[in-house]
Amino acid sequence: MNELDALVDSARQGFEQAATPADLENAKAVFLGKSGRITELMKGLASLSIDEKKARGAVINQAKQAIEAALNARRQALADAELDAQLKAEALDVTLAGRQPGQGGLHPVSLTLERIEGIFGSMGFDVAQGPEIESDWFNFTALNTPEDHPARSMHDTFYVEGGTATAPNLLRTHTSPMQIRHAVQHVNAHRALLDAGETMPEIRVIAPGRTYRVDSDATHSPMFHQCEGLWIGANVSFKDLKVVFTDFCRTFFESDDLVLRFRPSFFPFTEPSAEIDIQFQSGPLAGRWLEVAGSGQVHPNVVRNMGLDPEKYIGFAFGMGPDRLTMLRYGVNDLRLFFDGDIRFLSQFQ
Ligand code: PHE
Repeated sequence: MNELDALVDSARQGFEQAATPADLENAKAVFLGKSGRITELMKGLASLSIDEKKARGAVINQAKQAIEAALNARRQALADAELDAQLKAEALDVTLAGRQPGQGGLHPVSLTLERIEGIFGSMGFDVAQGPEIESDWFNFTALNTPEDHPARSMHDTFYVEGGTATAPNLLRTHTSPMQIRHAVQHVNAHRALLDAGETMPEIRVIAPGRTYRVDSDATHSPMFHQCEGLWIGANVSFKDLKVVFTDFCRTFFESDDLVLRFRPSFFPFTEPSAEIDIQFQSGPLAGRWLEVAGSGQVHPNVVRNMGLDPEKYIGFAFGMGPDRLTMLRYGVNDLRLFFDGDIRFLSQFQ
């Protein structure tokens, strides 16, 4: 093997041993660099005759080209290997089962509200929504609860900016302000009929929503839900309220033998007033009286504040607690579970 073949051979070996592109560039410098072996051989030509130069130069050039070819081949091989490794690292196993997106669902109290709306809807009740920031007038005064009324102290709440000293704004303590708001709207919509001395269509509405009080323990939350009911007409009686509410409770709890008790009570905006208790005849709660709503005949002063003549219009109102109904229906014993947002609790209702 002559000297040049040996050089090409050792270049091939050097390139082969280079494991990275940087190693390869270092190996290249040894043979093809400015002071590399080929350059040195070229310098040696200077001392030769013209003919010798031609012959020797051609052979050196061949060796140089062979070394360059070996270099390029190794470059390509390293690049291919790198790409291979990258493709392997980024490989997707398309046969793997996909990750399921989390399935959302309605909050148990929302499920109850939907149920309440469905049942009362089937009995001809509209559904109304009202503001959670309420004026003193709608929350108290219009509901026959003047400023010095002791009943106000049971409705301690959060006062918010925007009102005046005598008419503050507050977070509503119950959904009863919706009695006035909805009735006034209804009366205005039928103003022409009323002015003509005719009877307006009955008001039959429920108003579910959030309510607030300064109260917090296992059965009270500063934010809770209520659902108001109002039924006003020329000829509505306590009997109607009893029938409707009994029907509602039996449908809601899917229990035909559930019994109701109307227990005398007091609310400033109803007279007479009654607390509504229910009793299951079977199941874990059987035999106990459970309070589910306040109710009563709408007070004449309230009927007047609705813009109606209490001599002509009479009606009934009730206010129930969807949170409590949810607890009873599902056997939940701590109200706070509804507002903790713990997915382990909430996912049980999907
Ligand atoms: N608003 C009353 C409460 O929060 C409940 C109620 C509503 C009572 C309607 C009578 C009529 O306690």
